[in-house]
Amino acid sequence: MGAYHPHKHKTSSPKGSPGYFVPKPVCAWLVFGFLSLALLHIICCSPSTNQDSVFSPLIQYLDDTYSFVSTEPKNCSYSEGKWVYAPGHARRYNGTLCNVKESHDCIRNGRQDTGYLDWRWQPDGCRLPAFNPRAFLSQMRGKHVAFVGDSMARNQVQSLVCLLSSAHPYKVVYRDRNPYKYYFWRWSFPSHDVTVSFYWAPFISRATGKASNDSLPQTMNYVDLDVLDDRWANDADTMDVVVFSIGHWLLNGAIYYNGTEMVGVHQHPEITNTTVVGYAIPMRTAYRKAFERLMTSADRRPKNVVLATFSPAHFEGNTLTTACPRKEPYKEGEKQLRPLEEELRTIMYEEAEAAMRKVSDNGGGGAMSVEVLDITKLAIMRPDGHPGPYMHRDPFANGVQEWMSADCLHFCLPGPVDTFNEILQQMLRKKRAVKTH
Ligand SMILES: *[C@@H]1O[C@H](CO)[C@@H](O)[C@H](O)[C@H]1NC(C)=O
Ligand SMILES: *[C@@H]1O[C@H](CO)[C@@H](O)[C@H](O)[C@H]1NC(C)=O
Ligand SMILES: *[C@@H]1O[C@H](CO)[C@@H](O)[C@H](O)[C@H]1NC(C)=O
Ligand SMILES: *[C@@H]1O[C@H](CO)[C@@H](O)[C@H](O)[C@H]1NC(C)=O
Ligand SMILES: *[C@@H]1O[C@H](CO)[C@@H](O)[C@H](O)[C@H]1NC(C)=O
Repeated sequence: MGAYHPHKHKTSSPKGSPGYFVPKPVCAWLVFGFLSLALLHIICCSPSTNQDSVFSPLIQYLDDTYSFVSTEPKNCSYSEGKWVYAPGHARRYNGTLCNVKESHDCIRNGRQDTGYLDWRWQPDGCRLPAFNPRAFLSQMRGKHVAFVGDSMARNQVQSLVCLLSSAHPYKVVYRDRNPYKYYFWRWSFPSHDVTVSFYWAPFISRATGKASNDSLPQTMNYVDLDVLDDRWANDADTMDVVVFSIGHWLLNGAIYYNGTEMVGVHQHPEITNTTVVGYAIPMRTAYRKAFERLMTSADRRPKNVVLATFSPAHFEGNTLTTACPRKEPYKEGEKQLRPLEEELRTIMYEEAEAAMRKVSDNGGGGAMSVEVLDITKLAIMRPDGHPGPYMHRDPFANGVQEWMSADCLHFCLPGPVDTFNEILQQMLRKKRAVKTH
């Protein structure tokens, strides 16, 4: 039996695209229709081998239906909670078919244990609905959703495109030539005129060195704190939703400039004639510059800005077979956030709040909202969801190779990173609910 059970959604609304403001009677019929389809699906199409997995299509349909019938999202903090066993829950798409980065396509690369796809994030106090691609596309009709940041931003944007592609086909509008890095990538969903983009900008600010040339050492980044990375900043006016996801590169180290003047360093003990700035100041500076840019957008169309928190790595051993070897999430209480992760999270909340104060001081209420997508806790509990050695195709075909690397930072696709987008969807829904009252 294959590891992948796609749950086909044969749910076409009688009145074109379903939105959140479907009238009540239509709603009831929709619910009835979904339930019948779900039952049919269970009766005719489910593998009978596993009792539990029989129910996962039903849960899936209920989750989807929930998004249509509930007009007000729950007042719920999605950042705290626990992972609960839910067979099949995370088996949403085939990563090969939606063209994920090769090193995140764990199943294609030969990873046999797929138990990491049998977990669901249970926030404290409410249920997180499964990602609803049709609802997302309807809500984003005509809009541009941009992800700006490092490879975790790319991991999340690819998850989003894959989740959406299970409902509607996409076109790759642009993909830069470097086949291993994918610095810039753009997709369109013509059915809803939705554009999704990824902009590589691991410091948000303009950076050269390692940030644009992978063969340099990790700390050799030259960052101009006074200038934003051109590629995304030039497109800022066109963006409706901007998800910033940074952190790892600021920790790695860099030399910081203001124009030509060196203003600080991090992780460069050999440079003694300037200030050690750490990572917090450059991070705050970059966010502030970015907000300034987005707030002064030429057409002043409302923007939802989202700061994704830090998703920690899980390197454990120092050999290929011991790097992130875990097969299950951590149990509750088994893994706490470290002070570093707490600090990064605090920075993001503080900067988001400061930006919102500025927006309302400027009387620009509604023009920009800044929120934190707080995924650190749920991510830190998932040491099992990384590619590990399966970042390479059939890594053990010729036995264990000493020189091979393992990825214990990004997540397999499908994988735990899909949950980031489930939360993102709820955050964006909430924004809309607020705006329409
Ligand atoms: C995903 O799709 C590819 C290409 O059609 C196919 O070869 C592969 O078996 C599929 N993977 C799974 C896990 O179903
Ligand atoms: C929502 O939750 C927040 C934080 O727990 C609380 O401060 C706020 O009063 C709640 N709002 C409503 C409408 O319940
Ligand atoms: C990247 O850095 C390496 C090592 O310094 C250098 O040889 C190479 O020319 C650089 N590549 C580009 C495109 O700048
Ligand atoms: C760079 O220097 C200029 C001129 O002194 C100053 O106005 C600006 O705030 C500085 N930028 C940063 C990011 O420190
Ligand atoms: C500081 O040191 C760097 C190299 O370590 C050098 O390139 C730079 O000119 C020095 N700056 C000053 C102001 O001395």
